[in-house]
Amino acid sequence: MTSHVVYPGSFDPVTNGHIDLVERSSRVFGQVIVGVASGHGKEPLFPVEERVALMRQATASMRNVRVESFDGLLVDYLRQKESCVVIRGLRAISDFEYELQMALTNRQLSGEIETIFLMPSQEYVFLSSRIVKAVAGLGGDVSAWVPPVVFEALRRKYSRAPKEVPGVS
Ligand code: PNS
Repeated sequence: MTSHVVYPGSFDPVTNGHIDLVERSSRVFGQVIVGVASGHGKEPLFPVEERVALMRQATASMRNVRVESFDGLLVDYLRQKESCVVIRGLRAISDFEYELQMALTNRQLSGEIETIFLMPSQEYVFLSSRIVKAVAGLGGDVSAWVPPVVFEALRRKYSRAPKEVPGVS
């Protein structure tokens, strides 16, 4: 039996949908360890240190939540943390195949691991880090979708250098 669970993800960047899931998990389990995956298929927008820092700031009010990065296989990380429960969010049918594949792969790799799926609040069902980056990158307002610290980080990331005005040095 374990009272501490691991919520893994890329969190590039963390959205209000992720925070909703951390909150739900923290109400159900004794401790939630948010594992920010450092390895990523493609180049992330934010380096892992910044993704961890943003997640820490966004979850600072939750006393039983710890945020750290991890490398390598998730099952090895769980062993290291002496946990056997993975928390994942399930938003829509479109998530299901990927999540099923990942949960069953982890179960093949380590028989004692269980994945528990939580549904986010309805208002975040459409939300993803990918959508946030796409909209923010084109100058759209994502303030309702991400914690304020992430909004600021995105603004810094995408702020354009001031255009040079001819004749003005
Ligand atoms: O937020 P994401 O990108 O959907 O999270 C995916 C993540 C990081 C949880 C997953 O890719 C992962 O567990 N990576 C660690 C490497 C691993 O264990 N891979 C095998 C399981 S699919």
